[in-house]
Amino acid sequence: MRTDTPNPPDGSDASHGFEPERRARALVEALPYIRRFRGAVVVVKYGGHAMTDPDLATSFARDIVLVRSVGLHPVVVHGGGPQIGEHLRRLGKQSEFRDGLRVTDAETLEVARMVLVGKVGRDIVSAINAGGGAALGLSGEDGRLVTAVPRDPALGFVGDIAAVTPGVIERLVAEDIIPVVSSIGADADGHAYNINADTMAAALAGALGAAKVVYLTDVAGLLADPADATSLVERATVAEVEAMIASGAVQGGMIPKARACIDAVLAGAGSAHMLDGRIRHAVLLELFTDAGIGTMITADRESTDCRSVDRESADGVSEGKPGEG
Ligand SMILES: Nc1ncnc2c1ncn2[C@@H]1O[C@H](COP(=O)(O)OP(=O)(O)OP(=O)(O)O)[C@@H](O)[C@H]1O
Ligand SMILES: [Mg+2]
Repeated sequence: MRTDTPNPPDGSDASHGFEPERRARALVEALPYIRRFRGAVVVVKYGGHAMTDPDLATSFARDIVLVRSVGLHPVVVHGGGPQIGEHLRRLGKQSEFRDGLRVTDAETLEVARMVLVGKVGRDIVSAINAGGGAALGLSGEDGRLVTAVPRDPALGFVGDIAAVTPGVIERLVAEDIIPVVSSIGADADGHAYNINADTMAAALAGALGAAKVVYLTDVAGLLADPADATSLVERATVAEVEAMIASGAVQGGMIPKARACIDAVLAGAGSAHMLDGRIRHAVLLELFTDAGIGTMITADRESTDCRSVDRESADGVSEGKPGEG
């Protein structure tokens, strides 16, 4: 093991028992992906459930710093369902969910806004900065990033996204700053709304022309049968995901996520991915390896068949196959 290098950023033993050749191969394998996505915006939605483990949170933050360091522009959008639920419980309040969305009265909105902007977002910013990056936290209220409209009177202050004005994010990205966005928006009068973080990530991906949107969650990906953890759907088209939603195979929090993946792809993102955020380095495995992990959703079957980059692009011979970038 080299002695002239700093400790590995995740605090683990760098040798990991891996052959040096195998570790070098991982870097070589990453090269065409780095070349292909260099300069591209990648929106990463960090789920409330995937971020409850502090070790994973540290490792996620360092992965985001690495993604930026190799030339991609990560934009983090976060949820915080469990954290909001925990604070509401302390206040003796219980939430009701409809189709995966939290019914939000004025008090729930206040708690959601405090927890997301004041706690969860802060923790992610601190972790990225401690990992060597420069992150800045904001919500959809800042710079009029997200204009919200009420979704359904029965849901209270749950917002739909009427417009995205991405200027504030584009400026941060241009300044090499990693934006960390809390999923709160405001209507034209400045009233705050609770926006599903999956929906927010899709809208930002569309407005920013993101190459990919990646959803980290607490399951392996989209499951054909939510009761069967082994029924992972590795690739699906927009039409196939629509059919799964219509059939009832997609439930609870997976409904807004599946819809968000469809919306992001229809808005022009090359692909949308659902990954198991409990797997260490899930983001790196998805972005920089041939196999990828979790579920990949693309516009059509043709694009689902070219997950791998054209290996020639590593030599600068071609720009790789269309469909993902
Ligand atoms: N077909 C399905 N495939 C996978 N998961 C499903 C499916 N149907 C329902 N689910 C549920 O959806 C959950 C993921 O959505 P959930 O909103 O709970 O988490 P999240 O979006 O990662 O976090 P947060 O909402 O806090 O940002 C899974 O834990 C699973 O129980
Ligand atoms: Mg969710």
